[in-house]
Amino acid sequence: MEQQLKQLEQEALAKLQAASNLKELNDVRVAYLGKKGPITDLLKGMGKLSPEERPKMGALVNAVRENVTAQLEERITILEEQAILEQLEKESIDVTLPGRKVRQGNRHPLTRVVEEIEDLFVSMGYEIAEGPEVEKDYYNFEALNLPKGHPARDMQDTFYITEETLLRTHTSPVQARTMELKKGEPIRIICPGKVFRRDNDDATHSHQFMQIEGLVIGENIRMSDLKGTLDALAKKMFGDDREIRLRPSFFPFTEPSVEMDISCFKCGGKGCNVCKHTGWIEILGAGMVHPNVLEMAGYDSKKVSGFAFGIGAERIAMLKYGVDDIRHFYTNDSRFLSQFHRTEG
Ligand code: PHE
Repeated sequence: MEQQLKQLEQEALAKLQAASNLKELNDVRVAYLGKKGPITDLLKGMGKLSPEERPKMGALVNAVRENVTAQLEERITILEEQAILEQLEKESIDVTLPGRKVRQGNRHPLTRVVEEIEDLFVSMGYEIAEGPEVEKDYYNFEALNLPKGHPARDMQDTFYITEETLLRTHTSPVQARTMELKKGEPIRIICPGKVFRRDNDDATHSHQFMQIEGLVIGENIRMSDLKGTLDALAKKMFGDDREIRLRPSFFPFTEPSVEMDISCFKCGGKGCNVCKHTGWIEILGAGMVHPNVLEMAGYDSKKVSGFAFGIGAERIAMLKYGVDDIRHFYTNDSRFLSQFHRTEG
């Protein structure tokens, strides 16, 4: 029996050496050490031996099993290493291949419009001011000469949080807040931000959109200052050969109030589909700050005057980039947004 065992051991070790891959090693393991293998058989047959022989044989069988197992593990390690080396040899890296492009994000078209306008005004000495989107009725309406029950409030219906707090309908409350803060000092600010109205969404309306408010207050601020400022804005946003015209309009917080049009950048004024065949495109509302608004914020309307204007960022972006539906700005569709890669500057 001892002889048989030695032979088995030799055989198993030889086969382990001969195995050239992990699968073959496993076959050897199953064949010799497995439940149905000869070593297990020998162990099972121990019962038939005499009590003196049993421990001796038991120790021998165990020694053989341990030896074969140890050899098996060693071969596994060697073959695994070999497999890795072979794989590495096969996988060479071609460092001359062109790299994969990393897709870079780009600024949202509305952000770009806001930043361009901010840049222009900062270069003219304006500061950028901000205010809350959840606003007091007082700053959104009352301080702007729109007392409770004023009919002009109907055009700017909004979402009320309480009787006295609402989602602001325009960026004009930042005017009122800044005037209150500056306590009679001169002001030159530009205020971009989100505004809200109870509007049904369609191609040109959105319940949420962006405005940029401008306000200048000081001694001797005149309508001609407003006109010159708006002219610079029109040229910066739509090209140096743009002309502007002011038409009379109404806002409760400005007097006189105007609507500014620019000469059509597509047809140059001859008439086309962009300007609805008028040669002019309506851009923004503006006017001279109403004396009531100045007085309510603590300014002496006999000593100082000012102008204000409000620009819709979406409208500018739609015109500038030829966007036909305002909803494109909000849906985050990368097919729309990625078009602004090329012109990023
Ligand atoms: N706040 C006005 C609006 O939203 C725009 C405006 C601002 C008009 C400043 C005049 C002066 O309609």
